[in-house]
Amino acid sequence: MAETMIDVRELPRDEAYVALEDHLQLALDGIRDPIAVMATMSCLLYHGFGHLWAGFYRVVGRERLLVGPYQGSLGCLEIAFGRGVCGTAAAERRTIVVPDVGTFPGHIACDARARSEIVVPVTDRGGALIAVLDIDSESPSTFDDRDARALERLVRVFAEPDGVPPAPPRR
Ligand code: SME
Repeated sequence: MAETMIDVRELPRDEAYVALEDHLQLALDGIRDPIAVMATMSCLLYHGFGHLWAGFYRVVGRERLLVGPYQGSLGCLEIAFGRGVCGTAAAERRTIVVPDVGTFPGHIACDARARSEIVVPVTDRGGALIAVLDIDSESPSTFDDRDARALERLVRVFAEPDGVPPAPPRR
């Protein structure tokens, strides 16, 4: 179990994600329960980079996203597929990098301080869309293709077999 938080702000971008991924695997210790993974990943991304908001919107019901584990200021609760950056990424199942949220039609401003954003679709082992990972920054143009590729790699953990350790034997 990793004992401490890490700060990756001083590292080159690619190294930062490798360090976070290593830390995530240590922290998860084989656990693949999706809610536990979402909570742990949100925590590491938020504190590791010092972002404004980092977390998940889960697919619940028909074409509806509901806020899931996150770190940061209060997130909007529900987002319909096709609405905002999250809903568009979910509907189109593609990563969206927004250098300036003011230019994205229908951007949903949960926190007025947000200037740039990235949203990455999350799929399970069977290829079903289960969530989107959303990260918001107070600075413009925080995210680019390197973040997109690294985060897409990071969320592949949700497609791994469930590694929740078996319950201890009952006496
Ligand atoms: N800005 C997002 C909404 C979620 S919050 O930023 C946490 C969007 O436009 O989908």
